[in-house]
Amino acid sequence: MAGEKFLIHGGMRLEGQIAVSGGKNAAVAIIPAALLGSSPSVIENLPDIEDVHVLIEMLRALGARVEFNGSVMRVDPTTVDSYAPPAHLAQRMRASYYLAPVLLGIFMRAEVPMPGGCNIGTRAIDQTIKGMTTLGARVDTLGGVIDVKSDSLLGAEVYLDCPSVGATVNTMLTAVSATGTTIIYNAAKEPHIVDLANFLNSMGARVMGAGTSIIRIRGGRPLHGSNYTIIPDQIETGTLMIAAAATGGDVIITGAIPTHMEALSAKLLEMGVYIREEDDLIHVRSNGRLRAISVKTQGYPGFPTDLQQPMTALLTVSTGSSVVTENIFDSRFKYVSELERMGARIRVIDNTAIIEGVDRLVGTSVHATDLRAGAAMIVAGLLAEGETVISGVAHIDRGYERLDHKLNLLGAMIERVPE
Ligand code: EPZ
Repeated sequence: MAGEKFLIHGGMRLEGQIAVSGGKNAAVAIIPAALLGSSPSVIENLPDIEDVHVLIEMLRALGARVEFNGSVMRVDPTTVDSYAPPAHLAQRMRASYYLAPVLLGIFMRAEVPMPGGCNIGTRAIDQTIKGMTTLGARVDTLGGVIDVKSDSLLGAEVYLDCPSVGATVNTMLTAVSATGTTIIYNAAKEPHIVDLANFLNSMGARVMGAGTSIIRIRGGRPLHGSNYTIIPDQIETGTLMIAAAATGGDVIITGAIPTHMEALSAKLLEMGVYIREEDDLIHVRSNGRLRAISVKTQGYPGFPTDLQQPMTALLTVSTGSSVVTENIFDSRFKYVSELERMGARIRVIDNTAIIEGVDRLVGTSVHATDLRAGAAMIVAGLLAEGETVISGVAHIDRGYERLDHKLNLLGAMIERVPE
């Protein structure tokens, strides 16, 4: 498949108002969960992104009837007749393994190929396996397939060694089909975990405590279909905030949840960016002269690892030395060499990047090595002098809904051309 690239003419100030799309990481958990209903679900405010399109293909391959108009999806799970999604689809995204607990709940059996997703370091699944086996599943991962079987699923206490998003989702999705109560200790607290819990509860499940580190699930099906609107995308909101700050811009982001953005807002304020929050909007204004800061990524409500890359791009031109510590993934600094080719001065030691702010970046050809690295390249391209050419745009389209188009509406000059 021929790829596309972005040509960014840098130095344009972003101005105006833009609406944020629905949350990717909420969508990719909620869409598989809809299969647990005994009747159709309608999910609103979905982002029109490649990961959602791949999920639709996977659901259809399993026998579900799915309609999607770019925002609203209707999933009819009553015709699902397979517990094995095709490998060529499953390997294209991380969240395909959320189908394992869902199909296990329906068929007491699932065969889901090992998930793909961004190459940002070790992405272990041992905690998912622990969650599912503790609830009564037998899991075998030989041959690159997560092969799960069970005779009966029983609620239990699951202590996660780390607050993994994926393991929390998979254990919740197993627990709703189990008999009795499951308690997940050290659960992830991300907004998309809360959104999944709210969706499951709207289907008749009983999930309590999501958003804290202890989630209690009283299991038991059947669940029914539901009509649900998913939350706005926290990371798209943050990317737009960073892009506005990077261009000395004046941007109002609408349809957002400001409380999801506190970690980023606090850091931008520290850098000298003006931020105003009101109901569902965030106003970001900057004069482009920003101070260096230190950032440490953590699970929610800490600074999200998914904003580490665009934030580092912004820090390349902030006055002074910044220190960025990546605590979640062990290889999420690969894109730094691309920023260096644009004139950034960055030294990476283990999981820490030390960034000496420079006066300017200069456009050149760079590659988006993964989704958020792509966002970092866009931020760098927007603030650089001259033209930046970004290859690997498919990574960006996996998780952002027409980011080039949205930024152009704010005054950016980004052209999408065949590679
Ligand atoms: C989710 O990935 C997100 N993906 C990621 O978003 C996000 O970066 C990440 O959470 C952290 O917030 C989706 O929601 C689809 P984890 P996930 O399980 O679930 C270790 C983006 O750009 N770990 O919380 O894969 C693991 O190795 C993407 O939108 C174990 O050791 O993340 C990693 O170092 C990229 N054992 C850390 O925990 C396990 O069993 C966090 O992983 C599970 C995880």
